[in-house]
Amino acid sequence: MVGLLQHRWGVVNDRSRSYGDAGEPGPKQAGHLRSCQFFPLHSSAPYCVAQGYIGRPRRTVPIVPRFGCGCPATVVLMILVTGASGTIGSHVLRLLAQSGHPARAMMRSRPGRTVPPDVDVVQADFEDHASLHRAVAGVRAVFLLTAPATPTPDHDLALLAVARTAGVSSVVKLSAIGTGERFGAATVGAWHQTAEDAVRASGLTWTILRPSSFASNCLHWAGAIRAGEPVHNVTGDGEQGVIDPGDIAAVAVAALTDPAHAGKIYTLTGPELLSVPDQASHLSEVVGRPVVTVDVPPATASRQLLASGMPPAAVRATVIGTAWARAGHNRILTDDVARVLGRPPATFRDWARRHREAFAGVP
Ligand SMILES: NC(=O)c1ccc[n+]([C@@H]2O[C@H](COP(=O)([O-])OP(=O)(O)OC[C@H]3O[C@@H](n4cnc5c(N)ncnc54)[C@H](OP(=O)(O)O)[C@@H]3O)[C@@H](O)[C@H]2O)c1
Repeated sequence: MVGLLQHRWGVVNDRSRSYGDAGEPGPKQAGHLRSCQFFPLHSSAPYCVAQGYIGRPRRTVPIVPRFGCGCPATVVLMILVTGASGTIGSHVLRLLAQSGHPARAMMRSRPGRTVPPDVDVVQADFEDHASLHRAVAGVRAVFLLTAPATPTPDHDLALLAVARTAGVSSVVKLSAIGTGERFGAATVGAWHQTAEDAVRASGLTWTILRPSSFASNCLHWAGAIRAGEPVHNVTGDGEQGVIDPGDIAAVAVAALTDPAHAGKIYTLTGPELLSVPDQASHLSEVVGRPVVTVDVPPATASRQLLASGMPPAAVRATVIGTAWARAGHNRILTDDVARVLGRPPATFRDWARRHREAFAGVP
């Protein structure tokens, strides 16, 4: 009964109200379920349509449903974005808000100005189960991004457990390229592999995203570049399909809002293979002065990371990933971004131009 009551509430926004007021089914979007997620008996219904919205954006209001199956339940429209204060999560939130999909940001601390105005916010921590229950209440889909300090699938497993009991219907898991590959005696992205397996076994509808190296990683070089110092190159001549985080987020939003992506694993790359010296050369053109690199072999990188206070297990996982890329195993380009978005992925140079200020300012 608790579950049913929970499902009787949703959050609407301007866009959904505009067709709800007219009493007409709107275009297929987040509020339109292909099947009834709460009542398996009705799961063969072609679609469910909500209508009769009331209220202002950000207000939680009852939704009067009209289901193709005649089901008396109501529709849950909320999409939960975890990792919402981070690189990908903040893009996902922005895109959901821009396209009028009701979204809830899960944050550990009070949000800054980065949260779009119509977004609901829940304070929650993957390590605090009670807070996770609050986060998933009234949610139909979850963008699952975990970034534990030490590599562990526990955060993914904790969220999946509460999502199942709360009646969440789908999950889009951010994983990483190379997950599960053997590299010498090690497994690349071993914790993501365990989490991916749990997502597939969860009983929820799922999509898995395996992005390549983020263009935004080079923001770590900004201080060195501004100071005219060399940037640390931990991947040598290893080329990677460096990808704009905005493109990863756009694919995530497509997967969260269109059931056509259910059951898919997308390997997401940018349009070109780039080594760190290649990226430095693009940045050099963008900032208008030389950007040089200094090679940092795995053993040195390992010592430096340990000295910085990173937990040993995290250092090991990081060094396995960078050594794997250094050995050329991430020389991968796919057309998954273009197939999902209907346009090519952004180039690294595009991304660098948009972030020129970070590299060009004074130290
Ligand atoms: N960087 C790459 O090149 C790359 C490539 C492929 C895949 N990935 C994957 O991408 C993910 C990282 O994405 P990102 O760069 O967007 O993340 P990010 O910018 O590092 O942000 C991490 C997010 O996770 C949140 N978080 C951390 N611990 C939490 C906890 N205990 N409870 C609730 N929230 C918590 C953080 O919240 P706070 O703000 O409170 O800390 C933050 O919002 C990782 O899974 C990584 O393996 C990265």
